[in-house]
Amino acid sequence: MKHESVWMATSQRRAGRSIPGDLSVDVCVVGAGIAGLTAAYQLAVAGRTVAVLDDGAIGAGMTQMTSAHLSYAIDDFYFELEKLHGLEGIRLAAQSHRAAIDRIEAIAAAEGIDCDFSRVDGYLFLAEGDETGTLEKELDAVNRAGIADAYMAEKAPFGRAIRYPRCGQFHPLRYLYGLADAIERRGGAVYTGAHVDSIEGTEVRAGNVKVRCRDVVVATNVPVNDRFALHTKQAPYMTYIVGLRVPRGAIPSLLAWDTGDPYHYIRIAPCEDDDVLIVGGEDHKSGQADDQPARYARLEAWTRARFPMAGEVVLQWGGQVMETIDYLAFSGRNPGDEHVYVHTGDSGMGLTHGTLGAMLIADLITGTPNPWAALYDPGRKPARAVSEFLSENLNVARQYAKHFGGGEVSAPHEILPGEGALMRRGAHQIAVYRDPSGDYVERSAVCPHLGCVVQWNRTEKTWDCPCHGSRFDAQGTVINGPANRDLDAAAERRKQPRAA
Ligand code: FES
Repeated sequence: MKHESVWMATSQRRAGRSIPGDLSVDVCVVGAGIAGLTAAYQLAVAGRTVAVLDDGAIGAGMTQMTSAHLSYAIDDFYFELEKLHGLEGIRLAAQSHRAAIDRIEAIAAAEGIDCDFSRVDGYLFLAEGDETGTLEKELDAVNRAGIADAYMAEKAPFGRAIRYPRCGQFHPLRYLYGLADAIERRGGAVYTGAHVDSIEGTEVRAGNVKVRCRDVVVATNVPVNDRFALHTKQAPYMTYIVGLRVPRGAIPSLLAWDTGDPYHYIRIAPCEDDDVLIVGGEDHKSGQADDQPARYARLEAWTRARFPMAGEVVLQWGGQVMETIDYLAFSGRNPGDEHVYVHTGDSGMGLTHGTLGAMLIADLITGTPNPWAALYDPGRKPARAVSEFLSENLNVARQYAKHFGGGEVSAPHEILPGEGALMRRGAHQIAVYRDPSGDYVERSAVCPHLGCVVQWNRTEKTWDCPCHGSRFDAQGTVINGPANRDLDAAAERRKQPRAA
């Protein structure tokens, strides 16, 4: 069994160009995931010169970890969304998510991108133990949102379910590679291995290189330009996925979700000569659980109980989801900036949110009116989501107490090879990783964003910050913002005074 996503297993990792030196362009996009590349593509089509910068490969952040559902079935439910955003809000949410799927289909067709895009139906079915009225309540709200073609299917694949026609699925990495090619064909450029150190106004710095531009788009999953404001309105959650081999065609192509919290999500993807049944769920707040093997085991058991034809588990992987306090992404002008735009808060619908956010930001930059602007405005103050705001920020406040806790081990040799653990050294919490050969890597366990203590993730082999979504690999190298630098060196052991 491999620990990687089905998209990584079925495509070659792709880098962009190396950045040649200082640049001057109309728009600099930071982040080569779905939102960044779609924004760059939209702007290149509109005649702007664009440069995309990313420190990793194309799509190598959270886009490659998605389960790749293209859905307009809001995963926090339309009836809940309506309480926060009203009737007009749910209508615009439905319209924008459907438009995102249409846009992906149109781009793939226009640019000849071989990404297995297809239309499939989605099904929302009752989770075990959920009250039976949930589906009826949701269908009423879905219809009020203007989705007239959704209906209750009495004999859906999982029993009674709301059927959402014309959702979609594709191979997200192959789509991004095609987008990158299309950007380059229009004179834009995608630079990888280019870590952005700072964004000052409209000057972006990556090492010694300066990129000057009229507008900046920050699409780094979690923004690296904003230290505080947006991070109080969203919270990071880890989600886990298993991929089980099934004979080709044994399960029809579909998307499905149950009504649980956290919920399960299902789709099928081709892999070699078979299909892979992809099932995800078991979410938890990032950096606040250490039982990942048990979570994968529960996902497998849940899957086998419903799909007796499923074979071996061939893949498993985890990804991080940014849940906003009012269930919708933040896309638009960065609060307080005239020419800096931001997209974040995928809320479990990263591919449609990333695409619609990119369409919206491109419209804002080109001065094209867009009816979704207020709904997704990063500066919005969701007064009706105040209890969610308080609960997430109290949770963050509690994380600071970990500075004063004992370590998980008292000496490095207590850590098994391939594992990590926190160890107290005087006043400091140290993140210690023991590599498979038995060597130790020690780093400060204090997240360089705003100082929370990171936690070891046993299956992803990462240090995850429980506060705002920063993640670091086993060696302490930053792989996800808002932190924009690696974990610091560990505090040295204090020398023992010599005996007199
Ligand atoms: Fe904010 Fe770690 S992500 S303190």
